[in-house]
Amino acid sequence: MYAKPKVKTIVMKDSVPVVTIDGPGGSGKGTVTSLLASELGWHLLDSGALYRLTALAALNRGIALDDEAAVAKLAANLDVQFIAGTGILLDGEHVELAIRQEAIGLGASRIAAFPAVRAALLARQQAFAVLPGLVADGRDMGTVVFPDAPVKIFLIASAEERAKRRFLQLQGQGVNVSLERLLEDIVRRDEQDANRAVAPMIPADDAIVLDSTQLTIQEVLARVVDEMHAKGVM
Ligand code: DC
Repeated sequence: MYAKPKVKTIVMKDSVPVVTIDGPGGSGKGTVTSLLASELGWHLLDSGALYRLTALAALNRGIALDDEAAVAKLAANLDVQFIAGTGILLDGEHVELAIRQEAIGLGASRIAAFPAVRAALLARQQAFAVLPGLVADGRDMGTVVFPDAPVKIFLIASAEERAKRRFLQLQGQGVNVSLERLLEDIVRRDEQDANRAVAPMIPADDAIVLDSTQLTIQEVLARVVDEMHAKGVM
């Protein structure tokens, strides 16, 4: 069982401690991010949700996902509220379930390739860095959004393992999907995210790459906490 970390106040004048957790979908980064943020009492940034919300808002308004300028404008003006826990409101409507659909994930990945969209969301993401600290989950948290973060993790797992995890999660929710189809979507999204020209999904030079294929969430969390201790962040 994962032992509750002892939190020490961080001595970092004028700066907010940030832990970045990047990696592909299904690597466990979302779960690790939310467990860590709640253990520490720190803020959480689910940056993927912002790309998903932008894709959903575009679809709701009939804006084509390949219209970079229109989607970027939408991203800059998103009316979003993150409510502590799991609540996410877009234009005042609950959209937690809607943004988790595979189609929205793929749409998010498409619009995330546009430099103007990424630029439009940058300041909004950086604004999450407030005391006592932030755990930020995404693809470019360690490379672009928080390049000075003292602790950077890049979490990976095999595509097969990630498809299996997603399959079991959806099955648990009573959603019927094919494992093969999920694997195809995962591989397609990895390719889109890793091969785009701007802010591709790659580990920062100073990131620790952790393979979660054979690890439990508690083991991953313990490794992240070790890294925080090693860097003097807690
Ligand atoms: O983490 P996620 O599956 O919710 O992210 C959805 C998509 O958003 C992902 O396929 C790529 C994009 N994304 C990104 O480009 N940069 C981020 N920091 C987070 C997500």
